[in-house]
Amino acid sequence: MKPFFYVANWKMAMNLHGVQAFIDAVRHDQTLVEPSASTIILCPAFTQISLVAAALKDTAIECGGQTCSPYASGAYTGQVSAGMLAESGCAYCIIGHSERRALAETDTDIAAQYDQLVNKKMTPIICVGETANEREAQKTTAVLEQQLLPLVAAYKNNPADRLLIAYEPVWAIGSGTTPTPQELADVFAWLKGFVAKNLDASRTFLLYGGSVDEQNAAAIKGVPGISGLLIGGASLEFKKFKNLVV
Ligand code: 13P
Repeated sequence: MKPFFYVANWKMAMNLHGVQAFIDAVRHDQTLVEPSASTIILCPAFTQISLVAAALKDTAIECGGQTCSPYASGAYTGQVSAGMLAESGCAYCIIGHSERRALAETDTDIAAQYDQLVNKKMTPIICVGETANEREAQKTTAVLEQQLLPLVAAYKNNPADRLLIAYEPVWAIGSGTTPTPQELADVFAWLKGFVAKNLDASRTFLLYGGSVDEQNAAAIKGVPGISGLLIGGASLEFKKFKNLVV
């Protein structure tokens, strides 16, 4: 069976109490912790990673970072390296999220972050996506190409064992609006072609993110080419998240 990924991006939305409640619910419920064809990856804030990783160590649930430093180590106040994430129990890390790009993370930074993750044998979850204006100007695939090409160059130098690419239209994040299944099918067909041409299709998985919820998840999962979901708001409550995953 083809693997399917559910990535929970908790952003800066969860306090310690919320994290503990989520972990307790996971352990109590047991549905999510058994190994299955699906991979569940929780991405807490840096300060919460060790707690989550330790609490779920004996389960099939994985941990990921929300970003990482483009540098391996050194005098970079406030940054967290890929090595530190790996030590804390992360096997994955989101990079290139539009909320990070908005804080001035560049394509060059993101390619360097990719390298750092691969050097630590971690799986990068690379986010790409167009703004509302770019969508209106019918520039979606041009934007995706521009965001992906620096990563193709990084991949050719330093191939990842596995790569997750998340299409997250900026206008769909936190807005309650998603592309239609037809729009998604078109973008994922384009992404599939891009991956076949530039990366290794057998190691690359394509995810969708942006206002995924209990109502729309089934239709989105049914779009050809989608092998996972990157979930923000609907991943903060265990019950909602579980309904998406099960
Ligand atoms: P929402 O699911 O809250 O729209 O967030 C999506 C996202 O940015 C995940 O990385």
